[in-house]
Amino acid sequence: MERLVEPGLYREAMSRLVAAVHVITTHGEEGRAGFTATAVASVSDSPPTLLVCLNRRIRSASAFRQAGRFAVNMLAGEHQAVAESFGGRTAASGEPRFSVGHWREGALGVPCLQGAIAVFECRLVEARTIATHDVLVGRVEAVTLGPDGGKLAYLGRSYRVI
Ligand SMILES: Cc1cc2nc3c(=O)[nH]c(=O)nc-3n(C[C@H](O)[C@H](O)[C@H](O)COP(=O)(O)O)c2cc1C
Repeated sequence: MERLVEPGLYREAMSRLVAAVHVITTHGEEGRAGFTATAVASVSDSPPTLLVCLNRRIRSASAFRQAGRFAVNMLAGEHQAVAESFGGRTAASGEPRFSVGHWREGALGVPCLQGAIAVFECRLVEARTIATHDVLVGRVEAVTLGPDGGKLAYLGRSYRVI
C-alpha cells in the first residue's frame, strides 16, 4: 500500500489537536474494563449517537463488542489520576484500574464516574473495523450531567485543565 504521509508526521500533527479526555468503560463477562480515550465524537442528536475509536490491541477490546454497551465518562480537571490509571502506561488492566476515582453502576449496568463533567451511557449499535481500530457507534440511552467546571484536556502529549 502506498504510504503518502508518515505515521510519525500524522501523530505530530494530531498532538496539536486540543482533545477532551474521556474514560470509556464497560462491564463484560470478565468484569469491569475501561480505557482512556480522546477519539470520541458526537455523530447526531436525533437520536443521540456518538462514536469512540478503540485500538483493537487494547486487552479489553473484545469486551466492548461482547457487552454491547459502554459509558463515555467526560473527565473533569481533577481527574488526571483517573486518566493515568486508564491510560495504559501502567501494568494495571481491568478491575484494578477502578481503584482510582469513585464509580457507580449506571442505568445500563456500566461503570459511571462520580463527578464527571458528563456521562453518556450507550448501547452499541455498530462496530466497524478501520485500520488498527474499531469504531464503536453508541446510541445514547442515558446522560448524567456533573459539575460544569474545569475540563481535562490533552494537548502536546500532556494534560491541561481548560
Ligand atoms: C490521553 C490518552 C488518550 C488516549 N486515547 C485513546 C483513544 O482515543 N483510543 C484508544 O484506543 N486508545 C487511546 N489511548 C490509549 C489507551 O488508553 C490504552 O492503549 C489502553 O488503556 C491500554 O489498555 P490495556 O493496557 O488494557 O491494553 C489513550 C491514552 C491516553 C493517555
